[in-house]
Amino acid sequence: MTNEQPLAGRRALVTGGASGIGRACAVRLAEAGAHVVVLDRDGDAARRVADGIGGTAVAADLTDLAGVDALDLDVDVLVNNAGRQHVAPLHEFPTEVFSAILRLMLEAPFRLVRGALPHMYGRGWGRVVNISSVHGLRASPYKSAYVTAKHGLEGLSKVVALEGAPHGVTSNCVNPAYVRTPLVEGQIADQARAHGLSEDEVVERVMLAPAAVKRLIEPVEVADAVLWLCSPAAQSVTGTSLAMDGGWSAH
Ligand SMILES: NC(=O)c1ccc[n+]([C@@H]2O[C@H](COP(=O)([O-])OP(=O)(O)OC[C@H]3O[C@@H](n4cnc5c(N)ncnc54)[C@H](O)[C@@H]3O)[C@@H](O)[C@H]2O)c1
Repeated sequence: MTNEQPLAGRRALVTGGASGIGRACAVRLAEAGAHVVVLDRDGDAARRVADGIGGTAVAADLTDLAGVDALDLDVDVLVNNAGRQHVAPLHEFPTEVFSAILRLMLEAPFRLVRGALPHMYGRGWGRVVNISSVHGLRASPYKSAYVTAKHGLEGLSKVVALEGAPHGVTSNCVNPAYVRTPLVEGQIADQARAHGLSEDEVVERVMLAPAAVKRLIEPVEVADAVLWLCSPAAQSVTGTSLAMDGGWSAH
């Protein structure tokens, strides 16, 4: 094990690894020496990412919980990243969308952690990193399912931290504000249409309004935080939430 390859010999699973933050995490973990399993609903895109980093692709829809239970979860690092957004006032929020978001962003992470922990415990080492959000710490209107799921993920992560500690397993959240990914680019376009604003105006007036640092975060910045949480320097960091939100939650 060298400093350049702190994860040599480790196996990592990144959910939603075909795009955005997940893809950046898969690349960073592979550069650090891990064999990375790139899991995504989009199997072709997952394969392209896995091929580029010498990893393995798994095509799976995480809202299918029986399918989640059947996955091979013999991994040392688990990055719970897959997620989606739906924006609607609560009194009109589609009930089936609320359920599906909770399944994807809370129940699937629970099942994945549940399945992976015995393997981590067996080796006396494991890293669970949950890609939460500033919306795991703060609410915004019209995002009831997303905010609920992320707040739930914060709780799950802390329980994993307490149970995992005697077995060498840490669990943490990373909490970004807006990151430049396809998920956000879609929201920028939608909001520009809805408000009759230019895309730059949406970014400046809507997305960056609550943050003190007025820039979109790049996916690689989140991936660097994930890698640090998996490094020896972070072995006493557990049960925490690393806000990468430009000061949003300092308010
Ligand atoms: N982009 C942001 O501004 C931002 C900010 C804070 C937190 N996050 C979180 O980061 C995570 C990744 O977001 P992103 O912006 O990279 O999004 P993205 O849309 O670029 O990537 C999400 C990936 O998840 C996959 N996915 C979606 N539903 C799935 C399912 N049912 N089963 C399996 N895979 C599925 C998609 O195919 C896609 O590859 C999410 O949990 C999101 O909430 C994003």
